[in-house]
Amino acid sequence: VVSVSPETPADGAALVTGASSGIGREFARLLAEKGHDVVLVARREERLRDLAAELEQRHRTRCLILPADLADPEAPERIQAAVREAEMSIGVLVNNAGLTPETRFLDQPWEWQAGVVHVMALAPLHLVYLFLPAMLERGAGHIVNVSSVGAWYTSTPTQTLYGATKAFVVRFTQTLGDEYPGRGVSFTAVCPGVTQTEILDMPVSGRAVKGVPQAFIDSPRKVAERGWEVAQAGGGVTVVGPTGKLTFAMLRFLPDRIGGKAIAKRLLYAYAKTHG
Ligand SMILES: NC(=O)c1ccc[n+]([C@@H]2O[C@H](COP(=O)([O-])OP(=O)(O)OC[C@H]3O[C@@H](n4cnc5c(N)ncnc54)[C@H](OP(=O)(O)O)[C@@H]3O)[C@@H](O)[C@H]2O)c1
Repeated sequence: VVSVSPETPADGAALVTGASSGIGREFARLLAEKGHDVVLVARREERLRDLAAELEQRHRTRCLILPADLADPEAPERIQAAVREAEMSIGVLVNNAGLTPETRFLDQPWEWQAGVVHVMALAPLHLVYLFLPAMLERGAGHIVNVSSVGAWYTSTPTQTLYGATKAFVVRFTQTLGDEYPGRGVSFTAVCPGVTQTEILDMPVSGRAVKGVPQAFIDSPRKVAERGWEVAQAGGGVTVVGPTGKLTFAMLRFLPDRIGGKAIAKRLLYAYAKTHG
């Protein structure tokens, strides 16, 4: 555990990827409320503009809008260059952008699959690589990587790379915490369960969580709040939300042929029902 005093918020702006909706948008709102300037990254520029207008009006936040496709391997360096040009320094990096593929591995071109790995794993890594050195130099900062309880699923058929890349993000975050302890920078992996965002509007994902009582579905605001709380307390891995905690416990205590395979079956069933 890194010691970061909750009374001294990290200085510098908060860079949030996937800020155009869901959990990322709530992270951006929360961090603007806490007084951070924000750098908003996603593909849907119009959404980012709306959010920036809201934050500028409510909190007088300085917002930098950076439309970018994180499947493009060059996006992280372009983001760093734009941040430099705006003379902003990043004190909080929230790697949140993500997608839930709804397709089997061989049903997409290789470039598409490689793009998924970029969005979910390589872009977060690259952004940490680019922005962590200045945080360490200042002795202050927070890296928050949004993973998923899916990091503990033993297989995610029809969402092929989801579980693997989410597990990658958790291990990467934990490793950074052990490589750079006591340097004033916290490393947090936030692992939400089912959360009410646009992901649930997708045909297979929506069907896969059908029957989950609404009371068990977390709000994106709560996920952002919990993630930020853990970052402020020094970082670590946090599984959040009722379904997150229940699923995590189930996967830990039941044998894989019961726990993990039940999830795999549910994904396959939802996919078959959707695609006939
Ligand atoms: N909702 C859940 O139940 C749940 C559960 C566990 C984990 N998570 C994780 O939480 C994170 C946020 O997801 P969410 O639930 O908030 O879903 P969401 O509302 O669909 O948000 C996903 C965000 O990622 C951005 N994004 C996707 N592909 C991108 C790309 N190629 N380049 C740049 N940005 C991209 C999207 O922006 P644009 O489309 O504008 O580019 C959007 O802002 C993801 O990492 C997700 O895996 C969600």
